[in-house]
Amino acid sequence: MSVVVFVPGDAAAIAVGADKVAKAIEQEAVARGLDVTIVRNGSRGMLWLEPLVEVRTDHQRLAYGPVKVSDVAGLFEAGFLDGAEHVLSCGQTKDIPFLARQTRLTFSRCGVTDPLSLSDYRHYQGLKGLEKAVAMTPADIVKQVTDSGLRGRGGAGFPTGIKWKTVADAAGPQKYIVCNADEGDSGTFSDRMIMEGDPFVLIEGMAIAGIATGATKGYIYTRSEYPHAVRTMQAAIEIARREHILGPSVLGSAYSFDIEVRMGAGAYVCGEETSLLNSLEGKRGIVRAKPPLPALQGLFGRPTVVNNVISLASVPVIMDRGAQFYRDYGVGRSHGTIPIQLAGNIKHGGLYETAFGVTLRELIYDIGGGTLSGRPVKAVQVGGPLGAYFPPSLFDTVFDYEAFAAKDGLIGHAGVVVFDDTADMLKQARFAMEFCAVESCGKCTPCRIGSTRGVETVERIAAGIEPERNRALLADLCNTMKFGSLCALGGFTPYPVMSAMTHFPEDFAPTPLIEAAE
Ligand SMILES: Cc1cc2nc3c(=O)[nH]c(=O)nc-3n(C[C@H](O)[C@H](O)[C@H](O)COP(=O)(O)O)c2cc1C
Ligand code: SF4
Repeated sequence: MSVVVFVPGDAAAIAVGADKVAKAIEQEAVARGLDVTIVRNGSRGMLWLEPLVEVRTDHQRLAYGPVKVSDVAGLFEAGFLDGAEHVLSCGQTKDIPFLARQTRLTFSRCGVTDPLSLSDYRHYQGLKGLEKAVAMTPADIVKQVTDSGLRGRGGAGFPTGIKWKTVADAAGPQKYIVCNADEGDSGTFSDRMIMEGDPFVLIEGMAIAGIATGATKGYIYTRSEYPHAVRTMQAAIEIARREHILGPSVLGSAYSFDIEVRMGAGAYVCGEETSLLNSLEGKRGIVRAKPPLPALQGLFGRPTVVNNVISLASVPVIMDRGAQFYRDYGVGRSHGTIPIQLAGNIKHGGLYETAFGVTLRELIYDIGGGTLSGRPVKAVQVGGPLGAYFPPSLFDTVFDYEAFAAKDGLIGHAGVVVFDDTADMLKQARFAMEFCAVESCGKCTPCRIGSTRGVETVERIAAGIEPERNRALLADLCNTMKFGSLCALGGFTPYPVMSAMTHFPEDFAPTPLIEAAE
């Protein structure tokens, strides 16, 4: 009987040699006359163990990692196909503490299944949510999503059910579901992992959104830096059409829904929903003023749901297990689970899905193992380039939209980027302003001009030019950007800048900045 070996086909695993390891395993098996079937699964999200090779023995999955090509012959020699011990053995995959401690609802199949096997998908509870949805009224689907407490995972945390209701109630000959897969935030990769590791769950979530709101067409907008995700999504869409999950009769029902994948060139502002819609329409990715809301006049002027990948991919489990099941996870008004991405200077980086309520301290130390450099943690930035820098005194903040907002922070797309004590927070503040200047769409003055003036002001502080006056000027400028910008790019850039200046005043003392002098 053929032995099944899993080698992730995820882009992060490929980046550290997974393709070559898969090839080496195949060649070694042929040379030894052994019958091995290699499955290119998604990533389990333990990035420090990639390429993580798994062997299926009886009813177990045994893990070995990180595997290099030069380890392959030794693994065969040790008898890894029978689950034998090896220096790279990690035991049963499900028992690895990083994985065992998680609550995987949205990512339950990621890394477990063959991403393009519909029978695997069905075997692991796939399509149950859509099967229930086609038998319900659209209003009941919207109610179930609303009752679950699901909030948008793209950044703003807006209640998904309320957005869907606005689109469902809007009149129009054509409505759209647009999946925001631009994933521009620093340190984030959960959207990519879902698209590469469990594409059918996104298709299922979008089809449910279509049925609930009366939309018959969906677009997945992603970036050209995600070629593996694009390929996997397109292949999965083809399969879904063939199997009547998409098309004129979704699962044999009267509902019609289809999806196309579109690629942007990778501008941060094209993740902002109105800029994304312009880009999708073939126009320049410039932000539109709101109102009108995209829910009422979105793509091509039609009522449009714009939701993040994770928001949509969380819907199938809500439809399958019920609103209360999902709602019972979490704290306060932050219900359900959140796939947190640990990145930057951290020992155990990766994807960690857990109920809201975990503290930053638990994430950084207990789960992430502290810094990779072994030096003390100085700061973490949560929520991408527009997120605040938190010092260790704020590490007891729990993952909860309101708790972060109360500390002038944001959860955003749940990226956690760790910095050790070598980080210079003044340089990080300068970087935030520079990032805004580079990525600004240019539509409004506080962001377009303010960000450039911001870079200059930080440089003057660094050069010791009237530091007190320039610190006050920077705070004033941040205030103008925060309240005067049209969208959150200009409006939130003050958060990393002001948090750096407030929590790390020692870095804003006048010492010459090398870049400023150059
Ligand atoms: C500058 C900027 C960049 C953004 N980038 C993304 C992104 O990459 N992905 C995303 O889902 N949302 C992004 N957003 C948020 C979207 O505008 C929008 O709120 C989101 O797609 C709505 O989906 P959700 O309700 O499911 O979160 C960005 C917002 C801004 C202001
Ligand atoms: S804040 Fe910046 S990105 Fe947003 S609309 Fe204004 S110029 Fe464009």
